Amino acid sequence: KTYRATLIEGDGIGPEITDSTVRILEKLGAPFIWEKCAGGLGAIESNGVPLPEATLESISRTGLALKGPLTTPVGKGFKSVNVTLRQRFGLYANLRPTRTIIPGERFDHIDLVVVRENIEGLYAANEYYLPLGDDPRAIACGGGFNSREECARIIRFACDYAVANGRKKVTLVHKANILKIFSGLFLETGRDIAQEYDGKITIDERIVDACAMQLVTDPWQFDVIVTTNLFGDILSDLTAGLVGGLGMAPGANIGEKAAIFEAVHGSAPDIAGKNVANPLALLMAGGLMLAHVGRHDLKQRLDDAITRVVTTGGVRTRDLGGTSNTSEITTALLDAL
Ligand code: NAI
Ligand code: MG
Repeated sequence: KTYRATLIEGDGIGPEITDSTVRILEKLGAPFIWEKCAGGLGAIESNGVPLPEATLESISRTGLALKGPLTTPVGKGFKSVNVTLRQRFGLYANLRPTRTIIPGERFDHIDLVVVRENIEGLYAANEYYLPLGDDPRAIACGGGFNSREECARIIRFACDYAVANGRKKVTLVHKANILKIFSGLFLETGRDIAQEYDGKITIDERIVDACAMQLVTDPWQFDVIVTTNLFGDILSDLTAGLVGGLGMAPGANIGEKAAIFEAVHGSAPDIAGKNVANPLALLMAGGLMLAHVGRHDLKQRLDDAITRVVTTGGVRTRDLGGTSNTSEITTALLDAL
């Protein structure tokens, strides 16, 4: 079985790492037929907008996309492309697995997953200023909302993911001690749902600030973390830092009708076009895309090849303390497969 999939190369290092990823996925025999579409800065030049209709139409049709990082132009009236995509396609779950690949670093044997609610919470805030005296912007107001339905959906997503992937524990991360309603609803919903998974997985809970500390002092106690939008944004960057940084952090944005796979990092303009970017984060996002269509066998082969190349093969890009460039690690991975 094959799957049509939208491919957005992205900006900055995007073309280099998507080229590497697509070649490696093809060598692996990944069942994707790519529809290459414009997005980001390149699309602003060719179409006048960062997200052309043709690209959105392709994603609606395929329901599956691999996306290189997109530069959001600052202060030019363009809304973040990533936020637009999440809202437009209802990509409510942001899945960020964090696994040690290179042993012997500051943190070893890390294997956890952060599941972040991706469309509500504080990022659904309608922000505005209130004036006071002479100052028209004296008070900044935010807000946002968490719905019971969405809390339930993201918590069930995390629990089902845990069951399907042989994980044992799901930790509800919240701040219900202070935000008794805003965060309390999430915790209350999680406690109710916990009963549905009785005997299958353990569900426990942490207050977010304590969780941040424990992720540094004893990250091994965590398995799957599920949390609301802002907390998940922050904690998942923290967990990326446990395993070698942004070059090793893949992410999936998953909805009921579409899923978009990407690296957690951005377009890295400082190293763009120099053939030094680490393609592994995007490649591992390709691995998540394989698992999403049920090809766990191919994902496993890919993960094994990556592990071999960076450990026994000793092929590492500069961000991992190595000396290899993008082409060299790509060739090593193609050979390993
Ligand atoms: P960034 O993630 O692009 O870069 C941060 C640092 O990490 C830089 O020093 C960069 O060289 C390094 N780095 C990132 N990815 C790397 C890789 N694969 N290999 C080696 N080194 C890597 O973050 P920054 O500079 O804040 O953002 C640059 C642009 O990317 C901005 O326009 C931002 O809006 C956009 N962005 C896009 C995202 C997306 O499309 N999902 C996510 C984050 C930022
Ligand atoms: Mg973030």
